[in-house]
Amino acid sequence: MNRSSSGINIVPILIVAVVCIGGGLLISTLTPTLFPVQASSQAQQIDTLFQLMLAIGGGLFLLVQGLIYYAAFRFRVKDENDRSDGPPIHGNNTLEIVWTAIPAVVVVILVIYSYSVWVSIETPQQNETTVEVVGRRFAWTFTYTAEDIIDPQTNAPVRFNDPNLYTYVNEALRLQMTATDVNHAFWVPQMRIKQDLLVGRITEMRFTPILSTDTNGDGIYEMAEAFPLRCAELCGDGHGAMGLVSHVYVFGSREEYDNWFAQRVNLVLNPPEDPVARGAQILPTYPCSGCHVLTSLGWTGQSGPNLNGIGDRASRRVAGDSAEEYIVHSIRHPLRYLVPGYAGIMPQFIEDDPSNANYMSDADLIAITAYLCTQTASGDSACDISTIEEAAAEEVTTSGMASQ
Ligand code: CUA
Repeated sequence: MNRSSSGINIVPILIVAVVCIGGGLLISTLTPTLFPVQASSQAQQIDTLFQLMLAIGGGLFLLVQGLIYYAAFRFRVKDENDRSDGPPIHGNNTLEIVWTAIPAVVVVILVIYSYSVWVSIETPQQNETTVEVVGRRFAWTFTYTAEDIIDPQTNAPVRFNDPNLYTYVNEALRLQMTATDVNHAFWVPQMRIKQDLLVGRITEMRFTPILSTDTNGDGIYEMAEAFPLRCAELCGDGHGAMGLVSHVYVFGSREEYDNWFAQRVNLVLNPPEDPVARGAQILPTYPCSGCHVLTSLGWTGQSGPNLNGIGDRASRRVAGDSAEEYIVHSIRHPLRYLVPGYAGIMPQFIEDDPSNANYMSDADLIAITAYLCTQTASGDSACDISTIEEAAAEEVTTSGMASQ
């Protein structure tokens, strides 16, 4: 090798540089065409950072791979019987300084740039809306609060739950998240955001949607158009199902969101008189769909017992229990009796602590039981409303008991 500066042939070095830089830029330009749409303002910043890393990584990849192929070809053993070692080469200070300094500069640039992106994403926005998120096996619960509307039942601001996240274009969202059983991770690929939900701790995440999910513009927000919410932390046999049960719906305007919000608040303040109708309305706000099949509500979960026809089976499950007693027991004390073949991972829904993620009021329990009692082949209820109320009054749970 000719080490004198005058002896270095600059042409192959220039060719290698052009190929590596051009190839890196090509990789960083073509790869994002495979990404889902950029649906949040954070997505643009994150993709730009990622493209820079792709360009650097792609160029380095081509350089290293190219040198491997070049060396394997250029310095291969020409005589098949030659088993001797090559000449030991070491000690080139210039080379060592160069190959240390260049990566150090690149890493420092990436650290500064990615830190600035991270700070920009994490910084609290003006007028941001907080939505509480609970992850559990195997469902998501979003809790919305109407700060300025008092619920006369609780004397506190109206709160309601939903398995989906609703927001609107340009709303600065702050998610306040926790998990009740094991760790989960909130991931919406179109938003380019992911954050773990940890048991016993609150984590938070911010994003601002920029794309309405009414992609065909018909004014109807369909599930097929909404962004699926994925769980990105292996959490059990229903982990995959956690990616099917919840979606992010982005309204195109604040007015549409406010209309939806007002309807939901109205349902809390003025629930239907009929317990069955009330049950049909509130059952979907509980985290059941990830584990149970219930065709009337579109549930397809597989981790828990099938609820189709539960009204017909409920009275035959446990000797001495009527249908209404069995259903009430199964919600207040799910581990007391397990349907054969199913693990006891259902959360216990307690009645004494509205701030608990597994809170269910007696009124909700009665309505949900009344609705499940109508899941019969004939469509007639297997229960009587007064006996449901008696069963609910007997079955007492407190948060002190709510351990698995
Ligand atoms: Cu929850 Cu995976």
